[in-house]
Amino acid sequence: MNSNETNTLSMRKHNLKGTCQEEEDGKSGGGLQMGGLSKGRTVNGALLLIFLLIVSVVILVLGDDLTVVQQVSFKIPRWNSAFEVESAAEPNAVLPDVEWNRHRKSMLQDYSPQPTETASPDVDQWGDYTRVAEELSTHTIQRGQSNVEKGRVEWVEFPYVKENEKELLVRAMRENGTLECHHVRTKTGRIVGFPGVELLHREVFEDEGEKVLETIRLEAGPVYEFQIVSVDDEDRPRCQGGDYYETDLSGPTWKSRPPIIDHQNGTYSVRLQMDPRFAGVYKLRIILLFTNFHGLHKRPERWARVEEVATLRVEFTVPENSTALPLPKCERSHFVDRKYWSGRWTREQYTEDCEYSRYGRWICVNETLQCQEPWCDGTVGSLESNGWVYSAHCAFKIFSKEEAWQCLDKKWLFFWGDSNHIDTIRNLLNFVLGFEHSVKFLNRRMDETFFAPGSENRTSVRITSMFNGHSNMSMNYEGLFSTHNQEFAEQCRAYFTGETAPDFMFMNSGLHDGVFWRDMGDFVTQGVDYNVEFWTNVWNNMKARRPDLLYRTTVTTGGNARNQSYNPQKMEWMNHIILDSFTRLKLERFQIIDGFDYTYPWHYDHKTNDGVHYGRPPSKSKWAGGNLGHRYFVDLMLVHMLLNAIC
Ligand SMILES: *[C@@H]1O[C@H](CO)[C@@H](O)[C@H](O)[C@H]1NC(C)=O
Ligand SMILES: *[C@@H]1O[C@H](CO)[C@@H](O)[C@H](O)[C@H]1NC(C)=O
Ligand SMILES: *[C@@H]1O[C@H](CO)[C@@H](O)[C@H](O)[C@H]1NC(C)=O
Ligand SMILES: *[C@@H]1O[C@H](CO)[C@@H](O)[C@H](O)[C@H]1NC(C)=O
Ligand SMILES: *[C@@H]1O[C@H](CO)[C@@H](O)[C@H](O)[C@H]1NC(C)=O
Ligand SMILES: *[C@@H]1O[C@H](CO)[C@@H](O)[C@H](O)[C@H]1NC(C)=O
Ligand SMILES: *[C@@H]1O[C@H](CO)[C@@H](O)[C@H](O)[C@H]1NC(C)=O
Repeated sequence: MNSNETNTLSMRKHNLKGTCQEEEDGKSGGGLQMGGLSKGRTVNGALLLIFLLIVSVVILVLGDDLTVVQQVSFKIPRWNSAFEVESAAEPNAVLPDVEWNRHRKSMLQDYSPQPTETASPDVDQWGDYTRVAEELSTHTIQRGQSNVEKGRVEWVEFPYVKENEKELLVRAMRENGTLECHHVRTKTGRIVGFPGVELLHREVFEDEGEKVLETIRLEAGPVYEFQIVSVDDEDRPRCQGGDYYETDLSGPTWKSRPPIIDHQNGTYSVRLQMDPRFAGVYKLRIILLFTNFHGLHKRPERWARVEEVATLRVEFTVPENSTALPLPKCERSHFVDRKYWSGRWTREQYTEDCEYSRYGRWICVNETLQCQEPWCDGTVGSLESNGWVYSAHCAFKIFSKEEAWQCLDKKWLFFWGDSNHIDTIRNLLNFVLGFEHSVKFLNRRMDETFFAPGSENRTSVRITSMFNGHSNMSMNYEGLFSTHNQEFAEQCRAYFTGETAPDFMFMNSGLHDGVFWRDMGDFVTQGVDYNVEFWTNVWNNMKARRPDLLYRTTVTTGGNARNQSYNPQKMEWMNHIILDSFTRLKLERFQIIDGFDYTYPWHYDHKTNDGVHYGRPPSKSKWAGGNLGHRYFVDLMLVHMLLNAIC
């Protein structure tokens, strides 16, 4: 099908307040990505001074707040306790906290510059890495077989904290730097307790800086668990969390992020799984992106590490009696209550070395190619992804034009988020609703009714977007602070005060917040809490029925953006705080799509993104990273995920 085919595109504008001249093209994306960097170079010296000043103020302020934060007690999440964290009111929540503090205290003693007389020699108290490694590997009793022994194979899941996650994260961040042992540089991460391998220590992974590829054979199906222990220059285990490891399990037909949990004590657990249908040889990479919470700084570039601490070849074999893991088709209920996802991208058919076609489209497999059970339902060819499709705890339906219009006819969709939302709206219109690329660009703030091509104006959908990257839509980097602007806030509210109101509201924030907030404490109170209160107030004062709400977490920033103000560590931290705050309202009809997870396997380079966008319009031009032609399928997948959630 021709992308420049003329179509009966008809739109009606609804009293659009203000027009934005900024075209949503590659240029503005580059602006968001590079803006911080170039500025950073010119005013570096002054910034450093200001930064040092701020750091000292922050340390002072945080020091003060610490007493408040410590009154809230909760368990540090563990794999086996289902990651439920009880509220402070529950007495049994106190014990782990006490243990936790005792552990920290002993660490502090070890690092005390003037050891007391009773202190034994450093090494004895610390234990060296080897000893901890031995302990950890003997403690890893399950060696990956736990769920098999229970007679049941289940999908690996991202561990999440049900309650008080916000306090947990805020506390970890605020306590950072309060103990001597926090001021220790992480040298690297050591891998311990890798299933099927005895004492996989430094010998295997470190060969004068060379990355050693060790092939490890595992049965496909079960969930395997291993640990990463952060160590200092003397190979002593570190005492606290906040090191950010990226995990990547990739091959030509499978890409996923093995879930990782930060135990906040220098140890990290990773879970690994491969579906038997995709048995084969994969590369498992562990990359240390940031240490010591450094990714949370306003300007974190200089601390970025981006070091591959381990690369393994893992051969997953098909077990004798292999049982395929069942994957249900997505229903609306699958989008409730599940904050963080652990999905995967798979493909059954693809064309090697596929190039974009005319108009910059990637027609690499037959457009009518059908999904393979159970990974999706519909035509995977229409994603223009060279066969890739994402599935999570359920398999998504890939909508046809007719099915999508049937669901959206006469509906009103309201978007509150960054410029990725604009890409998503444009991709919905062009790729799914039959506009065939006649929608060239959309304003960041818009309110339009789109009529189905060829329907003689009988079928329509109204789409409103309130860009929240800045209260002035031609500017960037304000994020959640934009709501503090009265005019912007009132314009948002205005859509919810009438007799009719949007049927669905899609929410997102993060990229611009990454640049705006210099203090994470302010992000929580002035950003998240302020907005939760604002929207609760808007929803509570509606005449019409409150829209169904859907929060999409911020994408994983890719390529060069990995070391910037909106780096993955900060985005993940912000996602968890925002989502925890909204889910705590316990709203009916509140859904979640984890944008961080479905973009994660694609964030290591610029092949599918410009750093902050995964859905730029097809184009035969060069873009970030020197790649030719934009890719857009990752965001197009999101379009279908949104339709699964609301249809
Ligand atoms: C965390 O603490 C370490 C050690 O004091 C410090 O270097 C680092 O900058 C802190 N991180 C943040 C985000 O403040
Ligand atoms: C870190 O915490 C985890 C989970 O609570 C625990 O299993 C592990 O033993 C701890 N590691 C150290 C070195 O304290
Ligand atoms: C596989 O299944 C067969 C038949 O149920 C059984 O006899 C055999 O022991 C099983 N093998 C393993 C390794 O479980
Ligand atoms: C795609 O597949 C359909 C149905 O199998 C077939 O009719 C069509 O010719 C194919 N298109 C291309 C470009 O191969
Ligand atoms: C559909 O609506 C547009 C704008 O309101 C109008 O210009 C056009 O003539 C209409 N088309 C039909 C077939 O009614
Ligand atoms: C928005 O920003 C643009 C560019 O900086 C400026 O020209 C314009 O006056 C601003 N608009 C408002 C309402 O502040
Ligand atoms: C950080 O990003 C810049 C561009 O934004 C890039 O040139 C540099 O290589 C990156 N640094 C690391 C360590 O990846």
